[in-house]
Amino acid sequence: MFAPFPISRPRRLRRTAALRRLTAASGPGLPDMLWPVFVVAGENQRQPIDSMPGQERMSADELCRSLEPLVARGLGGLMLFGVEAECAKTPDGARAWDENGIVPLALRRLKQAYPELPLFTDVCLCGYTDHGHCGLWHCPDSATSPAGGCIDNDATLPLLARMALTHAAAGADGVAPSAMMDGQVAAIRQALEAAGHHDTVLLSYSTKFASALYGPFRDAAESAPRHGDRRSYQADPANLAAALRESVLDEAEGADILMVKPATFYLDVIQRVRQQTSLPLAAYNVSGEYAMLHSLAAAGGGDLPALVRENLLAIRRAGADIILTYWAKYHAFFET
Ligand code: PBG
Repeated sequence: MFAPFPISRPRRLRRTAALRRLTAASGPGLPDMLWPVFVVAGENQRQPIDSMPGQERMSADELCRSLEPLVARGLGGLMLFGVEAECAKTPDGARAWDENGIVPLALRRLKQAYPELPLFTDVCLCGYTDHGHCGLWHCPDSATSPAGGCIDNDATLPLLARMALTHAAAGADGVAPSAMMDGQVAAIRQALEAAGHHDTVLLSYSTKFASALYGPFRDAAESAPRHGDRRSYQADPANLAAALRESVLDEAEGADILMVKPATFYLDVIQRVRQQTSLPLAAYNVSGEYAMLHSLAAAGGGDLPALVRENLLAIRRAGADIILTYWAKYHAFFET
């Protein structure tokens, strides 16, 4: 007779914490994270953001202070957003390329305090235009456009390039176009090269969806569109093929790092982009994802550090090398 076939015992490798650690991939740590921060003008400014508990808008000096423990623990870098005063916003968003604007001033200060810390900047007009769109708003011809206007893609490109150049000159290690204009990566790369900024990294928000998860961010950055929405330029959550093509095109235009945004609702997209590129891949764990876990924990529905670790682990498992996450601030969550 045959001896009974030994049953499979996968639990053997899960018996102790040491065996589990030995046989599993490690979760993302602080060095894999970029912390997105909202910078305001002035000194000694700390303004809590109601829709994002625990996050604040800060002036550059306060930001420098709050970075100390994070830099000491190896934070991967920052993604900077400037929050412009309402009265300084214009139709073309000209403050976006002012060399003495909020972001350039913060860059100079941060570089001085933390010369090694990688600094990335968001390159988009929505925080600087009075209409809140990511590009130039134009042609109010209600006959051809029922919404009464449209985004002028090609006229926006030189403005984004100018903004990127201003950031590069002020010390940004990388610029991150997020306006979802066609050709923005090529336009910015070309302008950087022409100005001698050969080493400025181009992190493209290559597959950025028109998502309902950006609500808290728009509150934090005061960048909500005053009319209409962003569906004519951001990717359609219902169209996977088009979303993947966006990343392919940005790689061809010269992006150094690609990104999928948001992350948690789009793990399939992260996995697909991972399979089609050998560039480093970032994923943006956006404001709505952050607020979601906060609300769950605040309602007594779970342990916040455990929820956060599982969320970021899923994003890493899907294939992201770099995670943009507001949770980077909570470094203790990742010290195991
Ligand atoms: C700017 C921009 C947005 C976010 C990052 N860059 C808002 C938007 O596209 O409306 C969202 C980030 C978040 O929700 O955390 N275009």
